[in-house]
Amino acid sequence: MEKVAEGKTKIIYSMPDLEKVTLKFKDDITAFDGKKHDLIKDKGVINAAITTKLFRYLEKEGVSTHLVDLPQPGVMVARNLKMIPLEVVCRNIAAGHILERLPGFKKGDSFPKPIVEFFLKNDSLHDPILNDDHIQVLALANKREIAEMKRLALKTNEFLKPYLLKKEMILADFKLEFGRDSKGKIIVGDELDCDSMRLWDIKTGEILDKDVYRQGAPLEKVTETYLKCYRKIVGGEPK
Ligand code: C5P
Repeated sequence: MEKVAEGKTKIIYSMPDLEKVTLKFKDDITAFDGKKHDLIKDKGVINAAITTKLFRYLEKEGVSTHLVDLPQPGVMVARNLKMIPLEVVCRNIAAGHILERLPGFKKGDSFPKPIVEFFLKNDSLHDPILNDDHIQVLALANKREIAEMKRLALKTNEFLKPYLLKKEMILADFKLEFGRDSKGKIIVGDELDCDSMRLWDIKTGEILDKDVYRQGAPLEKVTETYLKCYRKIVGGEPK
């Protein structure tokens, strides 16, 4: 297998079947546009398993994802999509960067309706927020595709929120990335795990996601948080 690309948390390899790629989830953890960087034991295995579990669930609910299989811990076979360089964030509860933008909401406040936002994937510009016009002017997606990404983000939220609530977790927000398949259909790609969701324990309010790392917790605490998230979503211990 030939390495096609390497990102902050995944390596992409080509496969003999050009319609597919292999994604190796790395143990690297980064924050602040890659300025903070560490390694967390088994993080790749944990996030690949959580993403697989949630993507399988989404598929059942009619949201197409790039997941094909998880042949080994930490290694996912996925459909080879042409990725759109956008981060699509859906927010139920005020947290993170939106607190700097939206007056009248403090951390933990519920929004009267879910908010979907688009950001350009660009570390040197610090992932600026984009509106529909920006996305079209940059030729990243057309009007129909923008509407489809928004629809799929909201649909994902509709399924995910109650699913995680049953596991005693509150889904404050999450991020999706999308790509186009060979027919131009918009499909959920990338990952959905402790790196890309804000999850709070319903009883204790404990943070169960990457925010513990962003907030500067010791790495042992970060490892423990990822393990807790794994136990709640996948069950058992990572292999
Ligand atoms: O930082 P912000 O508040 O905009 O993050 C919103 C959601 O998107 C969070 O769940 C965060 O983990 C996720 N996110 C991400 N990758 C980024 C930026 C945000 O997964 N580059």
